Amino acid sequence: MEILDTGNKIIKNVNRVAFGKGSFSSLQELISNKVSDTGYGIIFLDSYFADKNLFQVHERCEIILVDTSQEPKTSKIDEIMDSLRNKHCELPDVIVGIGGGSTLDTAKACSNLFTNPGSAADYQGWDKVKNPGVFKIGVPTISGTGSEATRTCVMTNTHSGLKLGMNSDYTVFDHIILDPILTSTIPRNQYFFTGMDAYIHCMEALEGNYRNPVGDAYSRETLKLCREVFRSKDMLETSCREKLMVASYLGGCSIATSYVGVVHPFSAGLSVVLGIHHCEANCIVMNAMEEFYPKYYEEFHSMAKEQDVQLKKGVASQLTDEQYDRLYESTIIHEKPLYNALGSDFKKVLTKEKVKEIFKKM
Ligand SMILES: [Fe+2]
Repeated sequence: MEILDTGNKIIKNVNRVAFGKGSFSSLQELISNKVSDTGYGIIFLDSYFADKNLFQVHERCEIILVDTSQEPKTSKIDEIMDSLRNKHCELPDVIVGIGGGSTLDTAKACSNLFTNPGSAADYQGWDKVKNPGVFKIGVPTISGTGSEATRTCVMTNTHSGLKLGMNSDYTVFDHIILDPILTSTIPRNQYFFTGMDAYIHCMEALEGNYRNPVGDAYSRETLKLCREVFRSKDMLETSCREKLMVASYLGGCSIATSYVGVVHPFSAGLSVVLGIHHCEANCIVMNAMEEFYPKYYEEFHSMAKEQDVQLKKGVASQLTDEQYDRLYESTIIHEKPLYNALGSDFKKVLTKEKVKEIFKKM
């Protein structure tokens, strides 16, 4: 495929990356250095860790548990921000996100909203955030989404049906801690689905029209690490969890410089209309991607088989016309990735009938 010249790129990376087994212990000191005697910090913690005593909470920090049974909604982010603004007159000194992609994205969105007026939906899109947010630290506890590295925080706007983040340099974390010990208790299927998000991001990027050499290098290395993990005997073994953590980070860096393709728009449709979580939705979409990504379709399914992971089938095979209409709308709205994958005529390829047929295959 011809690589289109997309001009010069400016890449914003995370300022500091702490990596290694036990690196999570550095969080305490980091927070202490940031929070003044009269200030405060906010820690967004995945509710999964509510009773796990993961760390000792700094005395001037407030914990907000993030319910990850549903992915972030603009309305939920606004609700959190309203309650925080009512409670505090001053800005926090630090915001920390500890958890999976949803928790990290919640932390990123709130960091931006503390210094930018209005509601979360006002900033869905590209470069709408005007002021730098509150200093933020990200600690992923599952690998794959790349949220720890990206310049976005994905949220669903239930009014418009739009699933879109605040794409901005200001959304990038200031500091992240990558400690593979934190990913040791993840259920097998969830580990696979989430890890595959990195694989899918990067294969979509490499198969796209809009590419650049930096993004390509990140993507190739991410795919290599994902293959090492998902082709190994035990994908959950320590060295694999370490590799997948790196793959997730590099995959996030890749996405910060390139675009996804056909899988993510369809996956967004499944999330918006049927409420299926992003990473599992991606894997379900792969059931119907033979036509668009034949090589990766084969490889993905053989890795799922090797790791004994079962994918749901038929989730969109018998829906109402109204549901298919909504699926079509919430897929086709993602013009940038579809343009990247299929060119300017993508609406001629993905007609309403064709989109319905693809969903039925899942
Ligand atoms: Fe993704």
